Amino acid sequence: MMLKLHSLPLYFALFLLESLLFIPSVHSSNIFSRAVHRTHQIASRHTRLIARDLRVAFGAVLVSEPAQQSLGNVRTVYCKSSSASGTNGLGSGGNSSSSGSSGSSSQGTTSTKTGSVASPTGSAVSTPWKLVEGHNGSDFFQGWSFFTGSDPTHGVVDYLDKDDATNAGLAYVNSAGNAVMAVDTTNNLTGNRKSVRITTNSQYNQGIWILDAVHMPTGCGTWPAFWTNGPNWPAGGEIDIVEGVNDYTNNQATIHTNPGCTISSSNSTVLGISGTVVGGTNCAAAETNNQGCGVRSASDVSFGAAFNKNGGGVYASKLDDTGVSIHFWPPDQVPSDVLAGTPNPSLASWGTPMAQWSSSGCNPSTFFSDHSAIFDTTFCGDWAGSAWSSSGIPGQEQSCAQRTGYSTCEAFVMAEGSAFTQAYWEVKSVKVYQYQP
Ligand SMILES: *[C@@H]1O[C@H](CO)[C@@H](O)[C@H](O)[C@H]1NC(C)=O
Ligand SMILES: *[C@@H]1O[C@H](CO)[C@@H](O)[C@H](O)[C@H]1NC(C)=O
Ligand SMILES: *[C@@H]1O[C@H](CO)[C@@H](O)[C@H](O)[C@H]1NC(C)=O
Ligand SMILES: *[C@@H]1O[C@H](CO)[C@@H](O)[C@H](O)[C@H]1NC(C)=O
Repeated sequence: MMLKLHSLPLYFALFLLESLLFIPSVHSSNIFSRAVHRTHQIASRHTRLIARDLRVAFGAVLVSEPAQQSLGNVRTVYCKSSSASGTNGLGSGGNSSSSGSSGSSSQGTTSTKTGSVASPTGSAVSTPWKLVEGHNGSDFFQGWSFFTGSDPTHGVVDYLDKDDATNAGLAYVNSAGNAVMAVDTTNNLTGNRKSVRITTNSQYNQGIWILDAVHMPTGCGTWPAFWTNGPNWPAGGEIDIVEGVNDYTNNQATIHTNPGCTISSSNSTVLGISGTVVGGTNCAAAETNNQGCGVRSASDVSFGAAFNKNGGGVYASKLDDTGVSIHFWPPDQVPSDVLAGTPNPSLASWGTPMAQWSSSGCNPSTFFSDHSAIFDTTFCGDWAGSAWSSSGIPGQEQSCAQRTGYSTCEAFVMAEGSAFTQAYWEVKSVKVYQYQP
């Protein structure tokens, strides 16, 4: 987590300018990685504190709720812009899950929304991936624990337990059968803002986690995430599936691990991904000031208000012997097998993943274990707070400081509760599949 790029806008701008002036022909991603590299030293003090706080928080959780809560940390770097929409039905030939180095073609033709909307129910296909856990409808909240510790990422948030969240109307299943996780919208608070963070009680060493959501938290001050992680962070590994802050419209997926996990390149074509590498290629939290290996989606409807306006979408995170991969599909591009509950990632209809971290550089059985899924919505803190005055990010062309008139994220979050009516998750389902051929 945490490149504190946003807290260093001037530094970053100067460095970028310097790069542009002196290395005019270098690819922008190289400029970016250099900037990221240069920013590391500055970020290190903060991230060490974060790592320490995580361990403290994790210890507290273990005491109160044995065996279940994995604390995670989330976080990363911001990225620069791009705008292509999702991918569809292309990909690199059928067997994308059969080899860690597959997916060599990222050249997929960009799909156009020509009105061929997938059937809402999909078509069942033969697949070795079997449903082992599902959360949907009125039973959605069964099998999750409500986390009530302080936010390890330093947000101005109070996470409610299940009873308090239910009584406050912040966790419920709505009339559409979708689970809602909202935040307190009271104006002029004297303390933190109330929110919800939940973790599945289950843990898996491999699987496909599929999130089908129609709405996610958005707006200045918000920092939502949906991710999985294992115990003893970062030993169990962390896979950030959906994450971003403030007004961002492009998702960022990131992994954070123990030392020894890398990606082979920062070139999307080489990696076989549709997204853009925005962090480094060393995923070790301890060696990169917790930056991790981040990838920003090329889809400008993959996060935030744009995701919501587009009717949401489906994310699939696959952890198996071949590595970790993340796919995103807008509602009209969800593969039929996924809709039918018989996901088969080897089908070409899955298309190019937005992100993938191959087993060739990061052996999954070494770096990821006992993963639970987690939702949260925090405010400000290490990422949303430090990005408060940043602009020029997809979706956040104007800074939150400018847009709200508040010079700090924290002051805005405390005062303007009515600004958080869109800061909610509305989830159709979370389903977990395991490889059981
Ligand atoms: C995918 O793998 C299966 C089994 O290994 C093989 O029979 C099939 O031909 C492969 N398909 C493609 C498109 O490579
Ligand atoms: C939940 O999903 C399962 C499997 O897809 C489905 O059979 C069931 O009807 C759903 N339950 C609700 C309450 O929507
Ligand atoms: C990325 O890799 C592809 C395939 O090897 C190559 O054609 C392209 O020039 C590379 N891009 C950059 C920016 O290096
Ligand atoms: C918060 O309180 C201040 C001072 O009383 C007041 O000026 C402001 O309008 C209040 N803000 C909201 C959103 O109610």
